Amino acid sequence: MKKEWWQEAVVYQIYCKSFCDSNGDGIGDLRGVISKLPDIKELGVNCIWFNPLYRSPQVDNGYDISDYQDIDPSYGTLDDFKELLELAHSMGIRVVMDLVLNHTSDEHKWFQESRKSKDNPYRNYYVWRAPKENGKEPNNWGNYFYEGRGSAWQFDELTGEYYLHNYSWKMPDVNWEYEPLRQEMYKMMRWWLDLGVDGFRLDAINRLKKPAGLPDSKMPPAPPVGIYGYVVDRAICTNVPGIHEILREINKNVWSQYDIMTVGETGNLSSDGALDYICQSHNEIDMVFHFEIGKNANIITVNQYKETQQRWIDLMKHNAWISQFLTNHDSPRQVSRFGNDKEYRVPSAKMLATLVHTMPGTPFVYQGEEIGMTNVYFDTIDDYNERYTIGKYNTMIEAGVSPEKALGKLRDLSRDNARTPYQWNDSANAGFTTGKPWIKVNPRYPEINFEADRKSPDSIFEYYKKLIQMRRDHPAIIDGNFRFLMMEHPQMVVYLRKCARETLLVVTNFSDDKIKIELPQEIQDFTWERILTNRADTQPSLSGRTEWLPWEAEVYTLSE
Ligand code: GLC
Ligand code: CA
Repeated sequence: MKKEWWQEAVVYQIYCKSFCDSNGDGIGDLRGVISKLPDIKELGVNCIWFNPLYRSPQVDNGYDISDYQDIDPSYGTLDDFKELLELAHSMGIRVVMDLVLNHTSDEHKWFQESRKSKDNPYRNYYVWRAPKENGKEPNNWGNYFYEGRGSAWQFDELTGEYYLHNYSWKMPDVNWEYEPLRQEMYKMMRWWLDLGVDGFRLDAINRLKKPAGLPDSKMPPAPPVGIYGYVVDRAICTNVPGIHEILREINKNVWSQYDIMTVGETGNLSSDGALDYICQSHNEIDMVFHFEIGKNANIITVNQYKETQQRWIDLMKHNAWISQFLTNHDSPRQVSRFGNDKEYRVPSAKMLATLVHTMPGTPFVYQGEEIGMTNVYFDTIDDYNERYTIGKYNTMIEAGVSPEKALGKLRDLSRDNARTPYQWNDSANAGFTTGKPWIKVNPRYPEINFEADRKSPDSIFEYYKKLIQMRRDHPAIIDGNFRFLMMEHPQMVVYLRKCARETLLVVTNFSDDKIKIELPQEIQDFTWERILTNRADTQPSLSGRTEWLPWEAEVYTLSE
């Protein structure tokens, strides 16, 4: 079957702000990215997803857009972007933009107009409501960033009404019920696609539709903002009936007219509801990022990991495609969260990559994973930048929690873990900037950096290169069907990928322990040739193998 290009792609996610600073202002920029394109090319990826580059007050690092059709001056100019796009294309690398359709910045001209008066032509671009009789907010919704005392409504004195902001008060939600807003968004998307971009990562895409009548959340109020009567209910504006009509209409008017990839960020979506979005015959979006593996405060067990993968992979039988990733710019670092960033940093980084790149679906690499970058532990809240960590910290302090305790609770999960500057080498500021970086560099940079990794015989980058090359050389990785073996085992993740031309076997140990176990007879009956390993010190032959080292990862092919 002929595949779409995005089914064969490997996507590299660039958080431009933290990637490479070309002019010493401490902020990563497009010229910095241009200077590193050869390294990206060498890795073998053939698509880049950029976190938002648009003009923005940078309250949420670009997710607060004040002009959709311009590049933020801190990143460069539109001409820089065009140059980058052309260069990337000439190197065989596609470029996907992050697109925020759920909200804009309050500094966007639409909102500036909207707030002016109740009969302003832009009024209905946003969600305005009169106060309740007692002057209170229209409902009990809390904002996801825990800002202020937590409400998702901001009172605007100019017209005496509240506007809805599910995220920051600086990021008002737009109103997708209003046709002129829709048309404006379509026009803007076409403009980027006509410029040559290859698709969109669609921010918070399952939140565009709000529930009719904007009813109170029935969830019990929980600390810290519960004490003020607000409820942070991430489900209430998600997957609301009517969302699919909105997406189908965008698809019909815009996306279907171009050869592009669309991948939706869908918090609060389980495999149950996913087909409605990604079944190809529904004409909505190509893939989603779900968070059944990586989101919650609790790390899932290896068995839960397998069970979740199985559910999502099963969807592929119904004319759908899935994404593979473990972490991104909104989460801790992959090797810190799922691996062991201390004594097994290198093998566990490679083992996790093996899963991402050999399971069915399109793999996404977040910048820094390919050199095993780790979480950062800042000592004071002042060193943190991202809105969610700071908002939650402040409300916890207000609710009487001690600073140490608050920080202790937030540190492991803070999104800033993933946002510290890329570690290029062991010079000052990890070679990211000659100036003062906008956020502190991870203190482990003298040990963990691109240059050091490239020199190491045990290089993680080299291992990624091999994995990505495998996707080109082994059709079973893209086309093969999938079957877990030893499903019940609490540490080993073992599976087969089989297509008409070949059978691959992936054997991984998802733990710090040395595991003693024999592979099932159906494997032992055949001869397997090892094509990849993350441990130099093990025997290449499968026969008689009963012991698996911590975080060991191996890929074999069935010998004829
Ligand atoms: C998405 C983005 C996140 C941002 C939020 C609001 O979850 O990935 O970084 O803060 O949407 O736009
Ligand atoms: Ca810069």
